[in-house]
Amino acid sequence: MTEEQRKYYVRHTDARKFVEAVLRGNGVPEDHATIVADCLVQADLRGVDTHGINRIPSYMARIREGVLNARASPTLQQVTPVVAQVDGQNGFGFVAAHLAMKRAIEMAREFGIGMVSVKHSNHYGMAAWIVQQALDAGMMSLVFTNSSPALPVWGGREKLMGVSPLACGAPAGKEPPFILDMAPSVAARGKIYKAARRGEKIPLDWALDKEGRPTDDPHRALEGVMLPMGGPKGSALSIMMDVFSGVLSGSAFAGHVTNPYDPSRPADVGHFIVAIKPDLFMSLDDFKARMDYLYRRVVDSEKASGVDRIYFPGEIEQLTQAERLKTGIPYVEAEIEALNREAERVGVEKLVVSTVGDA
Ligand SMILES: NC(=O)c1ccc[n+]([C@@H]2O[C@H](COP(=O)([O-])OP(=O)(O)OC[C@H]3O[C@@H](n4cnc5c(N)ncnc54)[C@H](O)[C@@H]3O)[C@@H](O)[C@H]2O)c1
Repeated sequence: MTEEQRKYYVRHTDARKFVEAVLRGNGVPEDHATIVADCLVQADLRGVDTHGINRIPSYMARIREGVLNARASPTLQQVTPVVAQVDGQNGFGFVAAHLAMKRAIEMAREFGIGMVSVKHSNHYGMAAWIVQQALDAGMMSLVFTNSSPALPVWGGREKLMGVSPLACGAPAGKEPPFILDMAPSVAARGKIYKAARRGEKIPLDWALDKEGRPTDDPHRALEGVMLPMGGPKGSALSIMMDVFSGVLSGSAFAGHVTNPYDPSRPADVGHFIVAIKPDLFMSLDDFKARMDYLYRRVVDSEKASGVDRIYFPGEIEQLTQAERLKTGIPYVEAEIEALNREAERVGVEKLVVSTVGDA
């Protein structure tokens, strides 16, 4: 068991408290710190640890360099009864997207649908937390964002489009909800940052190095390009995220969004957020019964050889969440140390580790 593999378990409540304290120490207002901490810890609970509290050091670097405004409050402008625009004012993407989905839900409750475009925002981490915000209000959702260049367009070799996730969700009855949250690349770039942090190798089909060769070294991969999933189709989906999130909103687009790990200038990310009332065409009970039926048809379908269980989109993450609520969230020592350095900078308590284990 190497030091890199040993896991340090942190209770989600302690993780949230820690992140809130670090954020407040960096000038983030209390209500915004609560939103950001909750989104990051949700990602870690769901096993999307590429987009969890380990992002804190890079976000804090952006605040210290003055390219992310810790104190900004997003503003909202109503455009039509079902359309609004949020200006993120270069504050946290989490806060701008949270406001956008809140307003989209209110409009959907009244009119059946609510659409909010967000400009001048920042990285909002795991998109599924916004889908979950809609699910908590009983709504279906579409959640798009653009992001910094990481992916060549099909036939190209330079980083141009983002590995911008597209996410959507729908509530069910007694079965788990549908939550699709996927980057248009073979793997999210966060998975490469995580492998680099943890001293791990990556699969050869994730990225090319800067000479255009397949690599299993995450550091070389970060110098090169991510590979789109499904060839031209993944590349087209990343362009779609840019059309809806960048072009439409008035934010940066066409390769001009700044990487969240680059503290040299504002990111100017755009998002596109829609909430839809599920009982527009039938009763809510009928809609939910149909979702439950779809779920059962999917997970009970005949399995391919070697497959033990079929999962609905979002289900693996839900199972991970149930497990981590009990065990705590596993981190490696280097991650805990990096987080504690942030705590030290602003004079707040270190992260409380509840147990250390090998799993
Ligand atoms: N904010 C940003 O700029 C940004 C950029 C890239 C990625 N991300 C985030 O990174 C995260 C990871 O993205 P990803 O593309 O690597 O996700 P992923 O490949 O792990 O999962 C993609 C989707 O497939 C589903 N899925 C995965 N395995 C499955 C299985 N065996 N059976 C059924 N469904 C399955 C998941 O539930 C999920 O909805 C996402 O949360 C995304 O929002 C954020």
